[in-house]
Amino acid sequence: MSSAPLPRVVVTRRLPSGVESALAARYSCTFNPSDLPLAGPALATSLATADALVPVVGDRLDRLVWHTARDITGGAPLPCRVVANVGVGVDHIDLDAARVAGVPVTNTPDVLTEDTADLALALLLMAARRLGEGERLVRAGRWAGLAPTGFLGASPAGKTLGIVGYGRIGRALARKAHHALGVRVRYHTRTPPAPAVAAAEPWATPAESLEALLAESDVVSLHCPATPDTYHLIDAAALARMRPGAVLVNTARGSVVDAAALAVALRDGPLGAAGLDVYEDEPNVPGELLARENVVLLPHLGSATVETRTAMGMRALANLDAVFAGEPPPDRVA
Ligand code: DGY
Repeated sequence: MSSAPLPRVVVTRRLPSGVESALAARYSCTFNPSDLPLAGPALATSLATADALVPVVGDRLDRLVWHTARDITGGAPLPCRVVANVGVGVDHIDLDAARVAGVPVTNTPDVLTEDTADLALALLLMAARRLGEGERLVRAGRWAGLAPTGFLGASPAGKTLGIVGYGRIGRALARKAHHALGVRVRYHTRTPPAPAVAAAEPWATPAESLEALLAESDVVSLHCPATPDTYHLIDAAALARMRPGAVLVNTARGSVVDAAALAVALRDGPLGAAGLDVYEDEPNVPGELLARENVVLLPHLGSATVETRTAMGMRALANLDAVFAGEPPPDRVA
């Protein structure tokens, strides 16, 4: 008796080995052997020939890619039954074009919350305590011993942490930073937490507005999604509202910050330091930021632990499984 062929799944990057094995056991997988994003034509071909696509951030499924895929099929419906993104942010996927093409898109919420909040906390400390500068000095062989006035940073205890975007990751950071560092937390969000949630987290209170939050915070950490509304939300005017010596942390998306304005605010004030994990045109990091000592620059590591990257891959697999079992995928975003 011949069994039905396994659905063909294109996976755009290497994933943790447990995830790759689980995928390969259930699907006919093509794994991109490199860690580099797939180019537009390869993504379009995948949409036009495979039964599912498993991309990650950096694989730009923009309008042109979706149009090219439809050109390849001669306008016929795409065979692709789901785009199961490994990651929670889906700003690299044109969701409207996916809807028009009739292809559901899923993401991997929840599983990366704690690790991403941890990374924001690490960046907060690295930037406020000048840890990147110190590490570079030691590695360069230029450390001459402890100097009582050397590398003086700012102590977070008793200061105000302002969180922009109070979803899962913002709330996790609020809890961790309050309990670990003794900061007072204020937040600005478009979707206020339910009253029961807010009551259970008395360490964080809403600011009157974004402007007020920027003006009263010693550290501002960004946790909003990349949307047309949040594009360059932190621009020169917003930066000018921040406190002298304030720290900006961004583990959300690079497009939320105007990097050129940030470099100026780090050079001329009011900012004291910044910690960044994300950039508008990854993997390109603006030269004016690379040139500054008072900014910590990480290569998009928010969810980069074995546990979380495995959980993200498994969550993408659960979405594939649902679609191929004829059920609604649990994490559908479009
Ligand atoms: C996400 O999940 O969106 C993170 O940025 C990692 O991809």
